[in-house]
Amino acid sequence: MNPLRISIIVSALTVSSLALAADAGSNWTDKCASCHGADGQAETKMGKKLKIRSMTDADFQASFTDEQAVKAIKEGIKDPTSGKVKMKPIEGLADDEVTALVQHVRALKK
Ligand code: HEC
Repeated sequence: MNPLRISIIVSALTVSSLALAADAGSNWTDKCASCHGADGQAETKMGKKLKIRSMTDADFQASFTDEQAVKAIKEGIKDPTSGKVKMKPIEGLADDEVTALVQHVRALKK
């Protein structure tokens, strides 16, 4: 294979993996939907167990800022009184993926 072809293939792969890494929809499905539900309504086994409020609910959306959402994703959420972990820190996300997920969360509001 000639070097030009190789470099075209390499750059195509780089572009597609970047696009994948930043896709909030698939990150949501992979890392969030088990608790929050595909549609954010948390009607999942975990969602019910943890009594997670629906992301479609405007009051719930208003209860946290974008900064708090970023912090929740990166550092997790602990119950302030019992100290029990409610949401574990979500690992393996780049900063721009976290930002995109916050936007995804905001878009779930009805
Ligand atoms: C292990 C289950 C679980 C997973 C997985 C999970 N969450 Fe959560 N999340 C929770 C719980 C529990 C809460 C607290 C809900 C409440 O207070 O009603 C929460 C709250 C939040 C909040 C509100 C933050 C705040 O300060 O109240 C945001 C935003 C959020 N999650 C985003 C995400 C995103 C994005 C992902 C995936 C990257 C994710 N969560 C994955 C359980 C989970």
